[in-house]
Amino acid sequence: MRPPRRAQLTDGLIAGLIGALWTLASVPVSAQEMCGTCHPENRVSFEDSIHHAETVTCSECHGGNPESREVAAAHRGGFHSLTNRLEVPEMCATCHSDLTRMRAYNLPVDQYAIYLTSQHGKGLESGETRVAICTDCHGVHDIRRPRDPSSSTHPRHISETCGRCHGDEALMQEFGLDPNVVADYRSSIHGRMLLEEGSLAAPNCTSCHGVHGATPPGVGDIDKVCGACHEQTRRAFLEGPHYEGMTAAAVSECTSCHSNHAIQQFGIERVESLCAECHGEGSDQAVLGHKIHTLIDSASEEVAAAEELVHRADQAALEVEDPMSRVEEAKTYLTEALPAVHAVSLEPVEQLTRRAQSIAEEVEHELYSKLDRRVAKIGLVLFWFYLLMTIAVLVIFRRRLRSETEAS
Ligand code: HEC
Ligand code: HEC
Ligand code: HEC
Ligand code: HEC
Ligand code: HEC
Ligand code: HEC
Ligand code: HEC
Ligand code: HEC
Ligand code: HEC
Repeated sequence: MRPPRRAQLTDGLIAGLIGALWTLASVPVSAQEMCGTCHPENRVSFEDSIHHAETVTCSECHGGNPESREVAAAHRGGFHSLTNRLEVPEMCATCHSDLTRMRAYNLPVDQYAIYLTSQHGKGLESGETRVAICTDCHGVHDIRRPRDPSSSTHPRHISETCGRCHGDEALMQEFGLDPNVVADYRSSIHGRMLLEEGSLAAPNCTSCHGVHGATPPGVGDIDKVCGACHEQTRRAFLEGPHYEGMTAAAVSECTSCHSNHAIQQFGIERVESLCAECHGEGSDQAVLGHKIHTLIDSASEEVAAAEELVHRADQAALEVEDPMSRVEEAKTYLTEALPAVHAVSLEPVEQLTRRAQSIAEEVEHELYSKLDRRVAKIGLVLFWFYLLMTIAVLVIFRRRLRSETEAS
């Protein structure tokens, strides 16, 4: 009979449907899921972020009703679209300036406070929305930790991140700012070290400008910024007359000679023209610069000659371990003489170059006499060899002469 079978089938279907609905209804509905169903793109990019990993939800930033599946209702209840840039930093600060919330992560809570002191923050306060806000540097939904190599705030990506605005010529012109800072930085010794060689010891934009406080360091502070890494150079600079003299004359320390973004390696020969550029050709200071150059040059030549001699001695199979280590010592004094130049005074440079030079001269003296003795020894051996050969030839000649006279 067919009808009963049909009734059974319908009963089964209904039961299955009820079961399925029951299972669906009992799935816990989290905040993300309802906003994310209608905004799949934002949900996907959000899932990659540190916020998602730490269970921050859409509605903690946007408000609204995360449980609603209906547009109007979902966007009700203290909803913020956050498309007004003026609101964003304050919103981020609701968590990031909250000591109790951030303590567990051991994160500082000063980003917003420092941001407000920056040129960016001051601009925003006055209603200028083209300055950087938190999301320009960190991203919006896909925020990652700065140490994550794919983060826009990782040291290797920062010049790109700042460059979106600071490399934009039209935008920078409106604010009267130099649009070449990013290109200059990228071609500098600092930029090349970081971007081409991957060295995190080299500075990125924020090493000199502060992370959230983006302000150019002023005259009087620049030496401190550079000195964070070039400690020895700064110490010598402070010992000399330039710090006081330059700051009093409102000439910026360090960057007036090296530039700020386009810093390249200088050779010591640069001293010659540099001193004259500010103090004038033939001035006392230019003469001093010439003397400093000569001291370093002649010490360098002597050390190079000593090193060359060590090579020759090595090839002649002489013991060179000790002279080699002394040449290294002399080179260290030479290296120390370079920061010492920054005291713009003869004495410290003279001390160091004198040490380098006298070590080099000692090494040369010693090696020459060893090499001379070796030459003398070889000469002696040759002499005896020649003498014995002559005697042997004479003996053979005499024997042959004697046997010839005996035969005749
Ligand atoms: C039923 C689908 C739906 C749900 C659920 C939903 N939205 Fe929307 N949302 C939309 C639509 C459609 C728009 C674009 C039209 C509009 O502005 O009303 C939109 C716009 C937005 C905007 C941009 C507003 C603007 O002014 O540009 C934001 C931000 C947003 N939603 C966040 C959320 C958040 C947060 C949730 C969860 C609390 C959520 N949405 C839940 C459908 C939804
Ligand atoms: C850390 C805070 C934060 C969280 C969490 C967050 N948003 Fe946003 N969202 C923002 C900010 C800030 C903007 C404004 C970005 C802009 O204007 O460029 C924004 C913009 C939007 C917009 C409108 C612009 C666009 O990109 O379409 C939508 C829609 C949106 N968010 C949905 C979501 C959804 C869905 C979630 C959860 C999956 C979410 N947001 C989580 C901060 C957040
Ligand atoms: C609802 C609270 C909340 C809001 C709002 C919020 N965050 Fe976060 N944020 C967190 C939490 C929690 C972490 C995880 C901290 C951790 O793991 O170190 C975090 C981590 C971060 C980190 C990584 C820090 C690190 O080094 O570990 C950055 C960067 C960040 N947030 C930026 C922002 C920005 C920018 C905004 C605004 C668009 C924002 N946050 C809004 C709670 C929030
Ligand atoms: C001009 C770019 C820029 C702006 C604007 C900016 N940040 Fe950052 N932020 C960075 C960089 C770069 C780092 C990484 C610093 C580092 O390597 O220590 C960072 C680090 C952070 C960290 C991690 C701090 C730590 O010590 O680990 C948090 C949290 C953070 N920012 C939040 C914010 C908030 C909130 C705002 C807005 C009030 C904001 N940032 C604005 C560039 C910016
Ligand atoms: C969204 C665009 C934008 C981004 C990204 C941005 N800036 Fe800016 N920045 C500006 C604008 C616009 C000004 C001019 C503000 C003013 O003068 O009111 C400015 C001003 C500055 C100043 C002050 C210059 C002066 O002499 O007044 C410094 C320094 C600075 N930014 C550094 C940085 C650094 C470093 C980064 C990256 C970590 C960065 N900025 C990222 C737009 C941006
Ligand atoms: C080695 C340190 C250092 C690095 C790295 C550095 N800056 Fe600067 N920057 C300075 C100094 C110092 C000044 C102040 C100018 C002066 O007095 O020499 C300055 C000035 C500026 C100004 C103001 C320019 C103007 O026209 O007045 C901006 C904007 C700026 N820097 C942005 C950046 C950006 C973006 C990066 C990364 C691409 C960067 N800086 C990297 C040291 C640095
Ligand atoms: C975050 C660290 C850091 C900061 C800040 C920094 N530098 Fe450097 N600088 C380096 C490193 C690393 C090198 C490459 C190694 C070296 O030669 O010392 C370098 C190289 C140089 C060189 C070339 C050295 C050579 O061998 O000829 C000069 C010149 C220089 N920096 C000047 C400056 C000036 C001026 C400032 C400030 C405006 C500055 N640096 C700020 C780390 C830094
Ligand atoms: C960027 C400009 C600039 C350069 C380059 C420069 N100086 Fe100066 N120097 C100054 C200023 C400014 C003062 C303080 C005012 C003054 O005394 O003229 C000063 C003062 C001095 C003083 C102490 C006061 C005096 O008159 O004797 C000496 C010494 C000196 N410089 C030597 C040098 C030497 C050596 C060089 C080359 C290595 C050099 N300077 C390169 C700007 C510069
Ligand atoms: C009067 C011009 C002048 C000023 C001011 C100046 N330098 Fe130099 N700097 C030079 C010259 C010339 C050289 C190349 C000769 C040498 O290596 O000493 C040099 C070399 C360097 C080097 C590579 C050699 C070394 O010392 O390790 C560094 C790094 C450096 N300067 C950093 C700085 C810093 C940081 C400041 C500010 C505290 C500064 N300079 C101020 C002229 C200057």
